Amino acid sequence: MVLDEVRSLVTKLQDDIENGPIVPNVTPQEIRRYLTSHYDFTKPVALDDVVADVEHMLRTWQVQVTHPRYFGLFNPSVTLASVVADTLVAMYNPQLATWRTSPAANEIERHTLGWLTGKFGLPSNAFASFTTGGAESNLSAVIVALTCAFPDYGEGGLRRLAASPAIYITDEAHHGFQKIAHMTGIGRRALRRVATQPDLKMDPEDLARRVAEDRRAGFAPFMVVGTAGTTASGVIDPLPDLARFCRSEDLWLHADAAWGGAAIVSPRLRDHLAGIGDADSITCDAHKWFSVPMGAGMFFCRHTDAVAGAFRATTSVMPGETDGVFDPYSTSVQWSRRFIGLKLFLALAHHGESGYIEMIEHQARMGDVLRLSLKRAGWRIVNSTPLPLVCFTRDGLVPAKFLAALYERQIAWMSEIRLGDSDPVLRACITSFRTTESDIEWVVREMGRIA
Ligand SMILES: Cc1ncc(COP(=O)(O)O)c(C=O)c1O
Repeated sequence: MVLDEVRSLVTKLQDDIENGPIVPNVTPQEIRRYLTSHYDFTKPVALDDVVADVEHMLRTWQVQVTHPRYFGLFNPSVTLASVVADTLVAMYNPQLATWRTSPAANEIERHTLGWLTGKFGLPSNAFASFTTGGAESNLSAVIVALTCAFPDYGEGGLRRLAASPAIYITDEAHHGFQKIAHMTGIGRRALRRVATQPDLKMDPEDLARRVAEDRRAGFAPFMVVGTAGTTASGVIDPLPDLARFCRSEDLWLHADAAWGGAAIVSPRLRDHLAGIGDADSITCDAHKWFSVPMGAGMFFCRHTDAVAGAFRATTSVMPGETDGVFDPYSTSVQWSRRFIGLKLFLALAHHGESGYIEMIEHQARMGDVLRLSLKRAGWRIVNSTPLPLVCFTRDGLVPAKFLAALYERQIAWMSEIRLGDSDPVLRACITSFRTTESDIEWVVREMGRIA
């Protein structure tokens, strides 16, 4: 029953979105004026009317990220199964803070995460949990790594440490690490910017040099972040080199594979993630290339005891512990928690591994089509990645002006990006399993008409 209702809504919406605009043209003032004049909350409004109105607002005043010509920031088109899952979750509202309150939901999550743990090549007893997204997973990684490296951090805080901790990342790593450094108290200056090679991958020699220099200067290096699919250009850091270095230097290797991690499922792509299974922890988002609605991140860590140590909390308020299981509230950042994992479980059960391989490889193929099509049309590709993310430019391009024309004509949504210290270029990422070759060819042709 839920399935039939959701199926017909989703099918209609998909058609509407595919045939409608992608980019809105609205100011904050217009929306605020509308809301103020329609909703002062003094009188109830019929639910049918509010729902219709909200849908209208979402259709009109939103970048349509599920449009096949949205070439954007990793926000995917979503599978029907995953939308049904979120509907069920809202209806049953299970509380996953403890195992006892939601045994079924907790075990479904554990089972689903176990599948991906194996794909990454982590040991079967590694820890894994669903998070709100990549930012929470990366935060979890830093907290656990700090707790592991500095036994005084948890109880005494940073002031008890003899030396200032340092994390090694590149400028291409996700910018959320700036906030994480701030929030964990290690400070933004604890982020050491390792140089990149011309292909924007972390330079292992510069990493070694910086770690040695910091040790000599009395700092306490504890963590290296390798990105598997950078946000700007889809570059994969040299994970096997980083893993070897971290092992020899007793450093924690975190692989931020928020977007690129899904490639581990694909026989065609998985070799590009070689070395990821040697990481101490991994971030991978279901709400990116696994095509489920936000927010669904995943955090994996081979040191289960360290996770339990970092997030432990005792209270008589919560139901008692259950033998043989970790309660999520005492092994993660969140306390009350939504049944995040059902959307991946349901989609995976429905499409099967083969269906996911097909979806992921289709998008990789569309990335190749886009690259080729742009080259043929005279554009210059400036990034290098096996993943479906293309950064490109042409002589005299002013990206902001070009994008304004692209949006105005509703051709596609793509963005502007600066790689290293070069001039800004255009960035287009295939994020929808519905994008076809003809979508791409049409977009590239229409782009050629923009002066
Ligand atoms: C490499 C990388 N890490 C982390 C994040 C943050 O993930 P989220 O937006 O799910 O919090 C992103 C977001 O795009 C990302 O590209």
